[in-house]
Amino acid sequence: MPPAPQIKVGPLKKGELPEADRLFRLAFGTFLGLPDPATFMGDRDLVASRVRAKHVQALAAREHGRLVGFNLLTIWGSFGFFGPLCVSPEYWDKGVAQKLLEATVAAFDQAKLPRTALYTFPHSAKHVGLYTKYGYWPQQLTALFRYAPVKPRDWQPEPGTSVLHITKRWHRTHDDHLEDCRKLTQRIDPGLDLTQEIRSLLNQDIGEILLTFTRKTFDGFAIACTGKGSEGGAGVCYLKFAAVRGGSGADERFHRLLDACEAFAASRNVLLEFGASFACEKAYRCLLSRRLRPLTHGITMQRPHAPGFYRRDAYVRCDLR
Ligand SMILES: CC(C)(COP(=O)(O)OP(=O)(O)OC[C@H]1O[C@@H](n2cnc3c(N)ncnc32)[C@H](O)[C@@H]1OP(=O)(O)O)[C@@H](O)C(=O)NCCC(=O)NCCS
Repeated sequence: MPPAPQIKVGPLKKGELPEADRLFRLAFGTFLGLPDPATFMGDRDLVASRVRAKHVQALAAREHGRLVGFNLLTIWGSFGFFGPLCVSPEYWDKGVAQKLLEATVAAFDQAKLPRTALYTFPHSAKHVGLYTKYGYWPQQLTALFRYAPVKPRDWQPEPGTSVLHITKRWHRTHDDHLEDCRKLTQRIDPGLDLTQEIRSLLNQDIGEILLTFTRKTFDGFAIACTGKGSEGGAGVCYLKFAAVRGGSGADERFHRLLDACEAFAASRNVLLEFGASFACEKAYRCLLSRRLRPLTHGITMQRPHAPGFYRRDAYVRCDLR
């Protein structure tokens, strides 16, 4: 029997980014049985674009200095999630992921985060079993949607409502809006704060932030990752997080934000992609009323097993990939 690998875990180095990106595609592409695993997710960038962000910590697993796996930890205020977690296929089932998870949980605990989470494959007993070992518990399914929205070129928001796009060029004048986003998420889940995520997208110029209003009242926002070097790549507008105010009129606000996202994706001639948890029942029913069909399902696991923003009255779209 070959000896167990001597794995050391430490911070991922900048110079290891190309190899980490290769491992990401190889690991997921192999698990999913793609004929050419290296083509997994095409030109989409879920590694370098995250590692560059201040609110993301990257952990590397190495054997004799060679990168064999890594994990990315994202912190949104009081909430954290990890992924993509990848191990080179020739090292599978040798305990490498567990070394990374020990360090991951220790880092989250050190940051004193009350709740952390991940998104995984519900059909894989290995994945679900691995994460339960570290205190994560499977919760509800998250449906992944991807479609080509058809919105006329002259689409306009309803009278009395408006949509504002924040781009890299304009964001310095929009700090007040970032504060609005922080207050909105804070109301949905105390301490939840996406402003670093927003700033990272704007600084890297890898998408736009869409804000919706009823008259002058802020209704909601979407983080739309699209274009070269983004999590959506050249062909997709991936909504990493989108939310509207709850309470009376929330269904209408949710539909209006989705209309704005569809119009944005249509204007760029790209597919719109997002995840929606069945736990957010009211928001999910809005998607059903639009007759949207999911592509596939994933599952959220949280530590501790508490709802957070995955609950019936939270109008959130987010898959934590
Ligand atoms: C998923 C992945 C990260 C796991 O990495 P790994 O290094 O092979 O995992 P480890 O060897 O550290 O841990 C395997 C553990 O899974 C658990 N496991 C495996 N099969 C299981 C089963 N049938 N039922 C329950 N638990 C199971 C066990 O706890 C096992 O450890 P143990 O045998 O020591 O108890 C790796 O396979 C990978 O990169 N896959 C492709 C990308 C991916 O899917 N990433 C995760 C997305 S959420």
